Amino acid sequence: MTFSGKVEVIKQEKKGPGIFRLDLDAPEICGEAMPGQFVHLKTTDRGYDPLLRRPFSIYDLDRQQGVLSITYKVVGLGTGILSGRQRGETLEIMGPLGRPFSIFEEDRRVLMVAGGVGYAPLNFLARLLQKKNVEVEVLLGARKAEELVGKEDLELLGISAEVAVEEGSPRGYKGRVTDLLERKLKGHSFHRLYSCGPCSMLEQVARLSRQCSLPGEVSLESIMACGVGACLGCAFPVKVDPSSTADNDQSIQAVEYETRYKRICVEGPTFSLEEVF
Ligand SMILES: Cc1cc2nc3c(=O)[nH]c(=O)nc-3n(C[C@H](O)[C@H](O)[C@H](O)COP(=O)(O)OP(=O)(O)OC[C@H]3O[C@@H](n4cnc5c(N)ncnc54)[C@H](O)[C@@H]3O)c2cc1C
Ligand code: FES
Repeated sequence: MTFSGKVEVIKQEKKGPGIFRLDLDAPEICGEAMPGQFVHLKTTDRGYDPLLRRPFSIYDLDRQQGVLSITYKVVGLGTGILSGRQRGETLEIMGPLGRPFSIFEEDRRVLMVAGGVGYAPLNFLARLLQKKNVEVEVLLGARKAEELVGKEDLELLGISAEVAVEEGSPRGYKGRVTDLLERKLKGHSFHRLYSCGPCSMLEQVARLSRQCSLPGEVSLESIMACGVGACLGCAFPVKVDPSSTADNDQSIQAVEYETRYKRICVEGPTFSLEEVF
């Protein structure tokens, strides 16, 4: 069930320039949330600007302690205000929302590809898959080394991560994360790919995974108003097999696709790669 109410800030931590991790005391959400789902946060309780809530993927959660974490980048007014919220303050929250990533019990090796703060929904997924003894490899990309998200947390988990930094980094590949992906997919033995990041990156990810018939899922972002399917503000074109009646059917084949619109907040934010690119 979706919780809507106030929760307390436990910790706000700066992880890099403009990048923060926020821990919230939210046991009502922690009980049910799954990787890929998001929360909708009202960033201010002082007035109406910004009026609308802002969506953030669930980065991590501790079900026993009831602690929910998000990792976010400051891009505008709402995230700017959020970065100033302190321990002990309260925030209005709604969640968990959206469709989680699909988890396939038969998968033994998966690859994750993240662009910057796009790593956010993948962290929770990586933790869960690791508990299920699935081998997880992660490719992390960013424009600058200090914009890389998740590296330290992956190291703590003992998960192998390769880094691509467009402007160069002594600890990784200089270039795009999709270059690393292209190399990684040569003669690969992965069962599935999960990705989140800028749309241009996801299009490349889809092209490369299609070339080697590797199925995958992505988490999409859009500007959201209601977050619960009512305003249609987050509608996104998807390819649908008209002969299939199932929503988000994982077995969509390359037939005569129809374009339909789905709401990222309800039918997403996770979609199969084949469906969206
Ligand atoms: C399902 C979902 C999960 C998300 N998870 C995370 C997360 O875990 N961490 C994180 O840092 N961000 C995440 N985002 C993006 C985050 O919601 C936006 O960065 C945030 O809403 C911006 O609010 P703002 O008030 O700071 O910016 P605004 O002042 O509203 O906008 C500032 C600028 O950013 C652009 N912008 C705003 N929202 C988005 C967006 N969603 N995509 C692209 N451009 C946008 C605006 O067009 C504008 O140019 C997620 C978005 C969605 C839809
Ligand atoms: S944000 Fe309103 S329908 Fe998705």
